[in-house]
Amino acid sequence: MNNELILESAFDKIKAYIRANNDESKPVIDFKTPADLSKVINFGIAKNGVSETEFLDLLDKYLEYSVKTGNKQFLNQLYAGFNFPAFIGEVFSVLANTSMYTYEVAPVATRIETEMIRLMNSYTGYANGDGIFLSGGSNANLIAMFSARNRILPESRKDGYDRTEKLTAFVNEHAHYSFGTAANVLGIGTKNVIKIKTDTEGRMIPSELEAAILLAIAEGKKPFFVAATCATTMQAAYDPIDAIADITEKYGIWLHADGAYGGSLILSDTHRHLMKGIERTDSFTWDPHKLMNIPLICSAILVKKAGTLQQNITDINTDYIYHDIDEIEDLGKKSIQCGRKVDAVKLWFAWKYFGVEGYRDRIDNLIDMAEYAEEIVMSQPQLMLNSKRQSFAVCFQYIPKNKQTNVNDFNLAVREALRKTGKSIVNFGYNGSDLVIRFVAANGELNKADIDRFFSNFIAEAESLENA
Ligand SMILES: Cc1ncc(COP(=O)(O)O)c(C=O)c1O
Repeated sequence: MNNELILESAFDKIKAYIRANNDESKPVIDFKTPADLSKVINFGIAKNGVSETEFLDLLDKYLEYSVKTGNKQFLNQLYAGFNFPAFIGEVFSVLANTSMYTYEVAPVATRIETEMIRLMNSYTGYANGDGIFLSGGSNANLIAMFSARNRILPESRKDGYDRTEKLTAFVNEHAHYSFGTAANVLGIGTKNVIKIKTDTEGRMIPSELEAAILLAIAEGKKPFFVAATCATTMQAAYDPIDAIADITEKYGIWLHADGAYGGSLILSDTHRHLMKGIERTDSFTWDPHKLMNIPLICSAILVKKAGTLQQNITDINTDYIYHDIDEIEDLGKKSIQCGRKVDAVKLWFAWKYFGVEGYRDRIDNLIDMAEYAEEIVMSQPQLMLNSKRQSFAVCFQYIPKNKQTNVNDFNLAVREALRKTGKSIVNFGYNGSDLVIRFVAANGELNKADIDRFFSNFIAEAESLENA
């Protein structure tokens, strides 16, 4: 194989792909069923490999049938967009292919990660804080619960945890499912994650939290962990951290803030008030791969107290890796991973490129775009807002003219039909028994014309189904 030729051709493909992100005539997806996909791509591995031409053809097909998450009509997930400097940073970190455990193999990346954690903690207000990049918000939530367990029961690290202490956690009833998984992994048990009732906008009700804590204590349980969510997955609701902190401080409970989705709001001078009290939390999950549009994965757990993460790690007796010879702490000693990607690097390149104010403006733009989407929903007679918008998400339904039509089934049908046209992709979920369409502003470069286009695509699809 001629690698030089493949490289040159690959560069051309990359350039064409990036250009197409802004080409409105291009679909978000060329939808294929799994069976049809197997007809156009040979997924098997041949005994003697493939030819140069076949290799290049596979590169084309991979891009052709993947979802174009950089297309502005990709509105399906809590991440979106093509972030140019972060893309370049990602390519360069893969090129260097270092691992984050030691300064010895990742000197520049170690300094970059330390700087990123310092900068992020300047927003949380953790004056003596620390943190680490890890493999996603779910794992950040796990490390938060792990740290809380190890604070209250330090011996559990060596002795294990047999539930004699009946540790009990509390989360927003719409909290991310990763808290259940964390409780499962840590031996706490999913049924001991108590879901706290929310108001109509999806925010945890503090008095309900206190009542649940008191009930747990009365039942002989040990409340040890509360998670406030900074933007719930569906409604993008922000829990009232200050009021929750009053309660956790009263009962000596670890307070975590799950900002995997909406944590980046902390960059906005105008909207940061939704996270008022963040400095009172013990830990904070923040996914720059969501609203900062860094390529997946880029996620951090921040902790208020330096030393917390090292305490989680036991028995590092590894003279083959940690030699303690450079005048800096090896970051691997804070992580439950050994080999670890240098995910802070792409964030650093992006933050360098946009600057502090550039990123602030991107986040403000997202809120403006969500507000604009909400205005459209409220101005269109066929659309109905399902719950009041708090931040980045607008949950709505299309109400069909025929009153006999099942609204949930109809909205699902519109969403599916739209996805298959490749014109726009938007997600859905449930608010109680309502199936709602969730518009989410995640791509920092969205503008009003993109949003107009989405609603026009959605309504056209709905009308054509209604008239079918
Ligand atoms: C509120 C919230 N927490 C945690 C997560 C999990 O983050 P990740 O996908 O990075 O594991 C999500 C993902 O959507 C989320 O919305």
